[in-house]
Amino acid sequence: MTLARDFVPSRIKTSDPLHEPRMLTEAEREVFRVRSRNARRAKDTASLSNHDVTHLVNKPTFDPALLMPQQARNGLTTLSLFSGGGGLDLGFDRAGFVHTGSWELLDDAASTLRRARPDWAVFGGEAGDVRGVDWRQYKGNIAVMHGGPPCQPFSNAGKQRGASDPRDMWPEFVRAVLAVKPEVFVAENVAALATARFTDYVATTIMSPLSSQYTIHQVKLQAYEFGVPQARRRVFFVGFLSARQGAKWAPPVPKFQRNTDLGNLPVVVGARQALGLQPIGFDDVSPTIRSGLSGPRFTTSILSSVSAQRRYEALQIWPNGVAIDRQAAARFAAKNGHFRLSVADVALLQGFPEWWTFEGATYMKLGQIGNSVVPPVAYEVAGSVAASFK
Ligand SMILES: C[S@@+](CC[C@H](N)C(=O)[O-])C[C@H]1O[C@@H](n2cnc3c(N)ncnc32)[C@H](O)[C@@H]1O
Repeated sequence: MTLARDFVPSRIKTSDPLHEPRMLTEAEREVFRVRSRNARRAKDTASLSNHDVTHLVNKPTFDPALLMPQQARNGLTTLSLFSGGGGLDLGFDRAGFVHTGSWELLDDAASTLRRARPDWAVFGGEAGDVRGVDWRQYKGNIAVMHGGPPCQPFSNAGKQRGASDPRDMWPEFVRAVLAVKPEVFVAENVAALATARFTDYVATTIMSPLSSQYTIHQVKLQAYEFGVPQARRRVFFVGFLSARQGAKWAPPVPKFQRNTDLGNLPVVVGARQALGLQPIGFDDVSPTIRSGLSGPRFTTSILSSVSAQRRYEALQIWPNGVAIDRQAAARFAAKNGHFRLSVADVALLQGFPEWWTFEGATYMKLGQIGNSVVPPVAYEVAGSVAASFK
């Protein structure tokens, strides 16, 4: 005989309307509560004591803004859907495009965009929900529509429910493209979307409604090949209303390599060097940074897999309990003595310049960072699209 399990709802408030919390019993919840209480106590004790400083406040040597020199305005307008903390928005902005509007469901992410670019039209929360927008008002006025529909329905880290996941927003992106008819669209997602598992999904949901009007390219890009010290491969769908323009488009070409296998390209900076940490005789790019919003439990860990854990160990970087800032990180020793990251460090490993800051609680900032397109990659894609207009 199986006993019915008595699930109790989580008491933790969330500002993410798409959050799917775990179904847990009271006893299971208590295990997590005890764990969080102990972690909080350890953190409070560490921050009260002056002699617990474990490492000096690090001074990064890497400036992602240098990978994306500001281009002169090119007169090409953009609409941004699912804007998150602004990875794609920032890349297109630095490449010279003219921002028309951003739509984003999370209030905190919309606040990030408003704070970074007070002159932008940013629709957030209920007003930012793309499901309620009549896009026809933009018809004929937009050069590029871009967006990263939520990747949870396809991510290897999730249940890969695809179209049956209520968070699947690809149909909304397609609806917007068909209503606005931008000259170009750019959509980004996890590389898993381009695997055999989702071939039918891509054919039915993306190609079938769009390919009669758009010439569509699919390209996978790797973050470290564009100078950012992180291994992160993502797929981009780039569609052109003009077949001629679509035939002219060339995807971004790698500028860096991770080791010396690509001939003469410069080797990308390692995570330790980028963050300004002491040399330990080993350096490498960081593993893929996971979003603090991606699992059933919000987290201040950026750890994505067991192999990632091994690489962090070799790098002597602690990927859990990311601190709110560098001062707090320096005061709070990681269990194994490795370097504790701060939100600013994680943002840097994701290719955001220091002056692009994030709003919300720590997990929410990490969520926006881990969800984002690496801005220097967005910049390269934007540059390649700009070139196709010439
Ligand atoms: C993968 S993230 C996009 C990241 C962004 N492209 C960047 O580069 O930073 C997907 C975003 O879509 C947002 N989102 C999900 N459903 C939405 C909806 N119905 N309307 C607007 N935004 C939505 C999520 O809150 C999340 O921030």
